[in-house]
Amino acid sequence: MKKKITIAVDGYSSCGKSTLARDLAKELGYDYIDSGAMYRAVTLFLMRRNIDEGERKEIPALMDQINIDFRWNTEHHRNEIFLNGECVEDRIREMDVSGQVSWVSAIQEVRKKMVDMQRSFAEDKDVVMDGRDIGTVVFPDAELKIFVTASIDVRAKRRHDELASKELKVTFKEVKKNLADRDRIDSTRAISPLRKAADAVEIDNSTMTREEQLAVAMNLAEKRIKIS
Ligand code: DC
Repeated sequence: MKKKITIAVDGYSSCGKSTLARDLAKELGYDYIDSGAMYRAVTLFLMRRNIDEGERKEIPALMDQINIDFRWNTEHHRNEIFLNGECVEDRIREMDVSGQVSWVSAIQEVRKKMVDMQRSFAEDKDVVMDGRDIGTVVFPDAELKIFVTASIDVRAKRRHDELASKELKVTFKEVKKNLADRDRIDSTRAISPLRKAADAVEIDNSTMTREEQLAVAMNLAEKRIKIS
């Protein structure tokens, strides 16, 4: 029987890792799972309950009320995230969620539930999953680990262009500040901080096109899949 393959793609906020992970999954015929979307969905749930950082003590008791799943949208050709049965794929990308997601994702009970779910999603499938701790914590034995980087200005420009294309009004300065804040919180938190796994391959895509970064990653994936 063919061995199940797991590919972990980690990196800083808006470095293009979701684009790369999605492109790789499509090319290889694997499932793509956006772990950041899961932390964003939990954040949206808490925002709707008016739970802010000061009320974090209440969060563990609420975790059982949060149900997350991914469903394939045949019209948009993408996996979309559902929070308690509602599609929140676009809503969770807005700046208010981005502004709160880092403190929510630093909470132990939140991470435990998300990591358990992420492992169960990949149980009997070939997957490409992107996030911050996929190669270090979620799948330390992944067949291939990629760590994506790009300069903060390149990342802020890409994110700003993406939000502007959706007609969401936000300045470049605000986007850059949000990215810098999240980089800092994500990489200094006590539990599962963002860091490059010792056996991850780094791809700096600051000057690469989408096709070029996919070609580099496909080359790595083909070698690893052959070996395993
Ligand atoms: O990938 P993203 O920017 O959509 O992720 C949103 C936030 O979720 C990010 O700032 C940190 C958190 N996150 C995390 O802590 N662990 C992951 N595996 C993925 C995301």
